[in-house]
Amino acid sequence: MMADRISISATDRVFVLTGAGISAESGLATFRASDGLWAGHRIEDVCTPEAWERNPALVWEFYAQRRAQGALAQPNPAHFALAALEQRLGDRFYLCTQNVDDLHERAGSLRLVHMHGELAKARCRDECGQPPIEDRTVYQNLGEVGHCSCGALLRPHIVFFGEIPLAMDRIQKQISQASLMLVIGTSGAVYPAASFVHWARQQGARTVYVGPEDPQNAGAFTRVVEGKAGEVLPGLFI
Ligand code: OAD
Repeated sequence: MMADRISISATDRVFVLTGAGISAESGLATFRASDGLWAGHRIEDVCTPEAWERNPALVWEFYAQRRAQGALAQPNPAHFALAALEQRLGDRFYLCTQNVDDLHERAGSLRLVHMHGELAKARCRDECGQPPIEDRTVYQNLGEVGHCSCGALLRPHIVFFGEIPLAMDRIQKQISQASLMLVIGTSGAVYPAASFVHWARQQGARTVYVGPEDPQNAGAFTRVVEGKAGEVLPGLFI
């Protein structure tokens, strides 16, 4: 059955938050679906500053595998539906993704921020001040990993557990202007992203969740649309 459509007026400002669920139909496993495990390690034990200090080879191995998987994946109808919505709304649209894949930009999204970093980039391990560089190499071992112009090893441009997400000032400003928040395919378990819906509610925005099951913060949404993003999003907006 077709879900009731969401009307977007000429004055609405839309803030979209996406999580791993929007890329599930592109063949990329979500975190919780894989039991949070990779090669016998808890993902939280591989993606931390401590793990990086202890064993950078293991951390790069994890992200090299994810780069290889990401390169094979294609954007799905949900990514394209958001790019089309941005075409319609222009600067009244803003997309914040927790995903590190580049499927949103490959679908045509422009006004987006990757709050947890990007798989296709690397940056100086020592934070010497150089900006992140494009890096899609699927490294086979640590010896292949490049170095910053300052000489330090490159690290994945990824926000590890315990690090502060990127672009929070910009994200907060965009949320403060939004009249509609649309959250897609995220379990509502990881903060601060799981708080965004509360911030939007406080200022009276409509808040809509799209996904096959209730997120942990379901109670904060004015509406939950049950279904897979790739099936629900095309045709959801009027
Ligand atoms: P999770 O794996 O926690 O949640 C994925 C969500 O997607 C679940 O709620 C599923 O119900 C939903 N889902 C599954 N298939 C879907 C589909 N076809 N359409 C829509 N939704 C679907 O992933 P995230 O919430 O994104 O952080 O995880 C948040 C953060 O935790 C990640 O960014 C990552 C992780 O640790 C970092 O890497 C810093």
